[in-house]
Amino acid sequence: MDKNNITILKIGGSVITDKSADDGAARVSKIERIAGEISGFEGKLIIVHGAGSFGHPQVKRFGLTGKFDHIGSIITHMSVRELNTMVVEALNFAGVNALPVHPMACVVSKNGRIKSMFTEQIGEMLANGFVPVLHGDMVMDSELGTSVLSGDQIVPYLAIQMKASRIGIGSAEEGVLNNKGEVIPSISNSNFDQIKEYLGGSSNTDVTGGMLGKVLELLKLSEQSNSTSYIFNAGNAGNISDFLKGKNIGTAISGDRTI
Ligand SMILES: Nc1ncnc2c1ncn2[C@@H]1O[C@H](COP(=O)(O)OP(=O)(O)OP(=O)(O)O)[C@@H](O)[C@H]1O
Ligand SMILES: [Mg+2]
Repeated sequence: MDKNNITILKIGGSVITDKSADDGAARVSKIERIAGEISGFEGKLIIVHGAGSFGHPQVKRFGLTGKFDHIGSIITHMSVRELNTMVVEALNFAGVNALPVHPMACVVSKNGRIKSMFTEQIGEMLANGFVPVLHGDMVMDSELGTSVLSGDQIVPYLAIQMKASRIGIGSAEEGVLNNKGEVIPSISNSNFDQIKEYLGGSSNTDVTGGMLGKVLELLKLSEQSNSTSYIFNAGNAGNISDFLKGKNIGTAISGDRTI
């Protein structure tokens, strides 16, 4: 693999936390196992992790998808920051030169969509052998005061800005599943209408659309770039290292031109 190619990996909050909990419950052994799998990778890597029970229940509790609230925004940000510290520490312990990048400090959204993001530091980190670790967060919003920014929105945004060549979204299922629980091998605009009835939110608290939200973000990305993204199960040992080794697992989401 070309050493200058950039890979973006999202680690779902559904994997590294107990999403059925109503306050931050980390799955420490999963975080450590995943950090170990990432430590074998030698290319340029950006990690984005979800908030799981360190963000979704707090947003719901304070009603942050519908109204502005100082305390709720602060509590949610501090909570997901705590998860980010655990992830960054585990990565460093495993030998990965990981650094935190908090979206609250470098993103402004407009009505919930990223309007601008300072990314120069991410480029410098990659050039100097660091692994930036971003996460779903509360961010400032030019219309709403603050808004929820999903890791699922950060991934495609960065994929375009940083011209990433490989995108993987590790979540808690084998891929995008049909009504029989089988993995749908590939999704593009040409089959989306047939499979959209199978796509739902999350079985746990998820304020950013669960699996449907994820697929919609990645389909949008495929319209704007030539990239293919893979949704796979990061809960299974070995999947993240397989993905990083170049194996295509789970569901591929791509533009019609690339399928
Ligand atoms: N067709 C489908 N295939 C697979 N999962 C689906 C489907 N429809 C709905 N889901 C739900 O979507 C969930 C994954 O989305 P969810 O937002 O909970 O995880 P995540 O994005 O990994 O976590 P976080 O948002 O905290 O990062 C699955 O666990 C499942 O409950
Ligand atoms: Mg989610």
